[in-house]
Amino acid sequence: MKGDHFGGRNEAGTSEEAEEAEGDGAIKKMCGIVGYLGSGSAVPVLVSELRSLEYRGYDSAGLAVIEQGNLRILKAAGKLANLETILKEKSPIAQVGIGHTRWATHGEPNDTNAHPHTDESKVVAVVHNGIIENYRELKNELLDKGINFSSDTDTEVVAHLVSYYYGQTKDMLKAVRKAVTRLKGIYALAILSPEYPDRIFAVNHHYSLTVGLGENESFLASDGLAVRPYTNQLLRLEQSEIVELTSSGYKLYSFDGEEVKRAPITSEGNLYVIDKGGYKHFLLKEINEQPTVLRQTLAKYLPDVQKPVNLKKERTDLVNSLHTAGITLTKEQIKNIDRIQIVACGTAFYSGMVGKYILESLAQIPTDIEIASEIRGRKLLSNERTLTIAVSQSGETADTLAAIKEAKENGSHTLGITNRADSHLAHITTDLITTECGIEVSVAATKTYIAQLASFYLLGIYLAEEKGLLPPEKAAQLKHELYLIPTWQEKILATSEDIRQAALKYCSAKDVVFMGRGFNYPTALEGALKLKELSYIHASGYAAGELKHGPIAVLDENVPVVTILVPGVVYDKSLSNALEAKARQAKMIAVAVEDDDKVNGIFETVMRIPVVDEFLSPLLTVLPLQLFAYYAAEALGKDVDQPRNLAKSVTVE
Ligand code: F6R
Repeated sequence: MKGDHFGGRNEAGTSEEAEEAEGDGAIKKMCGIVGYLGSGSAVPVLVSELRSLEYRGYDSAGLAVIEQGNLRILKAAGKLANLETILKEKSPIAQVGIGHTRWATHGEPNDTNAHPHTDESKVVAVVHNGIIENYRELKNELLDKGINFSSDTDTEVVAHLVSYYYGQTKDMLKAVRKAVTRLKGIYALAILSPEYPDRIFAVNHHYSLTVGLGENESFLASDGLAVRPYTNQLLRLEQSEIVELTSSGYKLYSFDGEEVKRAPITSEGNLYVIDKGGYKHFLLKEINEQPTVLRQTLAKYLPDVQKPVNLKKERTDLVNSLHTAGITLTKEQIKNIDRIQIVACGTAFYSGMVGKYILESLAQIPTDIEIASEIRGRKLLSNERTLTIAVSQSGETADTLAAIKEAKENGSHTLGITNRADSHLAHITTDLITTECGIEVSVAATKTYIAQLASFYLLGIYLAEEKGLLPPEKAAQLKHELYLIPTWQEKILATSEDIRQAALKYCSAKDVVFMGRGFNYPTALEGALKLKELSYIHASGYAAGELKHGPIAVLDENVPVVTILVPGVVYDKSLSNALEAKARQAKMIAVAVEDDDKVNGIFETVMRIPVVDEFLSPLLTVLPLQLFAYYAAEALGKDVDQPRNLAKSVTVE
C-alpha cells in the first residue's frame, strides 16, 4: 500500500578500477550497511543484521566495533561465513558497532578493499554504500596533504576526509557535515569513532538508511528488514540527512546543520522470516511458493471472485480493490491514455514484455517496453497522455528508477509494480501495485516474476473494464480462470522429479536455446536467463520465428533446444520452428500441454503443463523452466541461491 514508509533497499559503492573501467562513475555494486548500539552485545546483532542483507552482496564482509575504548576492525573476503569464522576465534566484546557486506563487479573483492575503512590515526571507521563520484580529486587533495591510502576504494576518501575535518573542528558532527558537503554522488554512510564511543553517525544522500529504535538500544541498516526483527519503531532517513544515533534515541540534521524533527513510525509491515522452510535452497522454496504468491496477489485484488458469481459486483470489486491498493487513475484519465510505456530490467523486463501483450490485447492501448538502462543517454519520450509503468521486485533498481523519474518529469502518469512497498519506486510513483510475495531471498527472481505477471493481468482487466472493452461475462471468466492457475501450477510442481531427470540429461550441454512465440517469447527469454544465471551454461532465448534469421547456425546435435508450445494462434508456427531445429539434429525438448499428442515423436523430452490457453499460459510455462534451471545448477554443484557475480538488487547504473 502506498504510504507504508519504512525500510527500503539501496546499496552501492565503487572502486578505483571500476570507475576507470566505466569512465563516468557508473558502477554496479550492491552492499549492505548495518549498525547497533545499546546494552546488548553488538557483534551477534551486527552479524544477524548482515545475515539478512547478505543476499545483496557477498564478496566480503566486515565489522568495526569499539572495544574498551579502542576501534577494532574485522573483515574477510568472501561470504559472511568467513567473517563469522574469524569472529569465532576472536569475537570482540562491544556494545557499539557498524558492519558491511559488499559486492563489486570490478576490482578484487579482497580483505583490503572490504569495509570498514579507516583514517591513518583510526579516529573513524566508515562503511559506505554508493558512489563518491569526485573521490579521485578528493584523494589527490588528501595525498597532497601527506595522507596515505591503503585501499583502492572511494570509501577510504570519506574516512580520511572526516578525520581531517575532525582534526580541525574537534566536533564529529561538524566534521561529518563538512565532509559530506565535499562529496559528490549518491551514498549512504555509517561512521564510528572511539572519540564518541556511545554513538554512531550515519548519512543518507539519495540512498536508503533506516534507524530502528528499541528499549535502550538502537539499530541501523540500509534495509528496514534487517532492523525489523528487533523493533517496529522505524525512522527512514530522507534524501540528505545526517543522524546522530545513541542507545536512547537520535538527533536528525539536514546537510546544512538544521535539526530536523521527525518521529519514527510504527511499522505495520510483517516481519519477514528468512528461512528455507525445509527446502534445500531458498530458490526451490520460492519456486514452490508461487501458487501461494499468486493466490495472495489475486486475493488482494480480486477478493470476491471465489464467492458465488455476481458479475456486476466482481467488476466493482476489482476497481475498488485496485483503487484501495494504490491506483488513482480515474476513468477520465484512462480514456485519455494513448500510450503505455513499461520500463524494467532483467526478469522484470520479461514480465513487462508479457505485460505489453496483455495490455494491448485487453486494454487496446499501444504499449512499448524498454530496457531501463537503454533509456540512459537518450530522451524518454512520454507526456501526460502516457501511462509509464516501472516493474521492479526490489523497487531500487537504479536504471528503472531513473527512467520512471524522467517519465514523471515529462508529465506521464506513473505506476510502480514492486514487491517492496517500502522501496524508492513505491515512494516516487503516483500509483502502485504491490505484489504479495514476501521477501525473495534467492538472487534469481522466480516468485516475483509470477506476481508481476499477475499484476499485469489484473491491470489489463481493470483498464479494459474501465474503458468498457471487456463484457462482464468475459471479465468474470478471466478472473475465474486466473484463480484456477495456482492449482495448475501445483500440478506442474508435482512433476518436479521428471523435470529434475530432464535437467540431469541435458546439464552437460555448453549452449541451450529456448524459443517461443507471442505470449511465450518472453518465457523463452526468461527460461534462458534462469538457466545461465543459475548453472552458468550459456543459454539464449529467441522469438521462434527468428531462429531461421541467424540463430539456427548454432544448432547441431550437441545443442538442446527448448520450444514452448501452447494451444493458440501461434502453436502451428512454433511447431514448424521446432521442426527446423530438429532438422539440424538439435536435442529436442518441449514445454507442452498435457493432451498435446503432436509433440510425441518430435521431442525427446516433454515437460508437461495443464491444458491452458496461450493468453494465461505465461503463468504456467515458466515453472518447468525455473525447475529445469534449478536442477541443472544443483547437479553442476553451483551456488544456486547466490550465483557468482550477481547481487539481488542493482542499485547503481
Ligand atoms: C534475474 C534477476 C534480475 C532482476 C533485475 C531487475 O533472476 O533477478 O534480472 O530481475 O536485476 O531487478 P528488480 O526487479 O529488482 O528491478
